[in-house]
Amino acid sequence: MSPFVNAKLVMSCSLAPCHIQDAKKGLEEQLNTMLMKYCDPVEGVLLAFNSVQLLNPYGHIINETPYIHIRVAADALVFRPQTGMELSAVVCKVGSNHIGLLLNGVFNVSIASDEMPEGYAHSYSDDAWVNEDGATIALESEVTFQVLRVHVAHGVISIDGSMRLVGKSSKKRKTIESTIVASPVKEKKSKKSKKIEVEAVEEEPTPKKAKKAKKSKDIENGSAKKSKRTPTHSPAGIPSTGPTYATLKMTKANVFRALAQQRHSINRFLPKAIDKNVVADILATTQRSPTSFNMQPYACVLIDDAKERQEVSTAMLGGNVNVVQNAPLVAVFAADLEPSKRVPAVEHMYREAGANPTYIQQLGAKLRMFGGEGHLAGGIRALISTAVSPLRPVPTYVPVSSWAYKQTMIAATTFMYAAESHEVGTHLMEGFDETRLRHILNIPDRYSIPVVIACGYHTNEAPVHGRSPRLPLKEFWMHLVY
Ligand SMILES: Cc1cc2nc3c(=O)[nH]c(=O)nc-3n(C[C@H](O)[C@H](O)[C@H](O)COP(=O)(O)O)c2cc1C
Repeated sequence: MSPFVNAKLVMSCSLAPCHIQDAKKGLEEQLNTMLMKYCDPVEGVLLAFNSVQLLNPYGHIINETPYIHIRVAADALVFRPQTGMELSAVVCKVGSNHIGLLLNGVFNVSIASDEMPEGYAHSYSDDAWVNEDGATIALESEVTFQVLRVHVAHGVISIDGSMRLVGKSSKKRKTIESTIVASPVKEKKSKKSKKIEVEAVEEEPTPKKAKKAKKSKDIENGSAKKSKRTPTHSPAGIPSTGPTYATLKMTKANVFRALAQQRHSINRFLPKAIDKNVVADILATTQRSPTSFNMQPYACVLIDDAKERQEVSTAMLGGNVNVVQNAPLVAVFAADLEPSKRVPAVEHMYREAGANPTYIQQLGAKLRMFGGEGHLAGGIRALISTAVSPLRPVPTYVPVSSWAYKQTMIAATTFMYAAESHEVGTHLMEGFDETRLRHILNIPDRYSIPVVIACGYHTNEAPVHGRSPRLPLKEFWMHLVY
């Protein structure tokens, strides 16, 4: 079975007034922007199209909008890999926990270490996976794998595969593919008509075949009992307001890996405000971040007003100026350098929660021991730490700014992933003038600002310089050998 299929797109396009003289050219331009991206209605990556036809000689103008809405059809060539297919690809990355493949020189495939063929082990010295007979899987090797899962995010498709299962029936390891609902928050449905609505029609399906095909797809997607399938992706260029990862088995590991692996800093944002409910959910998740003694020594200032962002941008450095001006939401994370002032509130919180009174009573003293507050006391404690440490373990002295930054950055990181889970992209920034920023936002001297986070919906553009690289795993995984 080939992953390349012919399908028919039937679309409702919105033709801009500038294309009235040559409607076909305008429609083709719209279709061109969808090429090489995942297109939900054809359930695959749109590789090519031809024979664009108007289905109706007349279009519609809706309300006061200048667009003409026309139904069109086109023949499409689609890349649609499916679970269980056996495909070949070339190794482009060798690691100890996975290998990366390129399928047809374009599509990414990942084979996790436990999906490598039996008998193979990773060899750092050979930079390859090697078996007892000396056979190797190295860069440029062409290998066959079986498709386990297909991930889609922001129009980009990636495949998890197994080389262990090659030649074995996929039924032996049945995975229930399900649609992941990214958020419990209901977003308001926009009344505005979307620019391109796309629906796919398989070529000449007989009614019986179509019914059967639909049923088997529903089973694959774990939604056999549901009468309607929730759309999981938007056509390229239109941000999805609903579920994100189409065919991912819903485990915590899969969800988090997808978030962390696909996240990247973004510089461009759609000019679209982030729904208030979404922001509230991001903040609620952020607040669940762990902090030392649960002191929660940070504050978050949100700026969505364009004028205020403009003002904030005057405190930013270099390229960060534009980022702040264009992001519909900017979050400023401030670390509390006087955390002892929080103790009464935290004690009260614990009392309300019915915590052990002795624990509550000791909170202040514990914070003094770890929180590093007070310059003079800090200096003395640093001396004591150094002197006593050889005799018995003592809390390491760290200045209060390090202590408070540590807590605040954990919250900022949670914020970043919570945003990403709503398809809200982020860019963390430290390039700013803190004094100016504090002044503009009226943030008291008691706080210091470790990071500013620009947030907004993805434009679906790939990162300008591609996915940012990382050092080899062994560079940061020390195994206590330096
Ligand atoms: C604490 C922190 C501060 C950063 N400050 C800036 C900044 O001022 N300007 C900028 O363009 N990127 C900044 N970045 C983004 C990093 O350059 C980026 O995260 C890194 O290159 C990895 O790329 P990725 O986020 O796309 O994976 C910062 C990131 C972090 C975590």
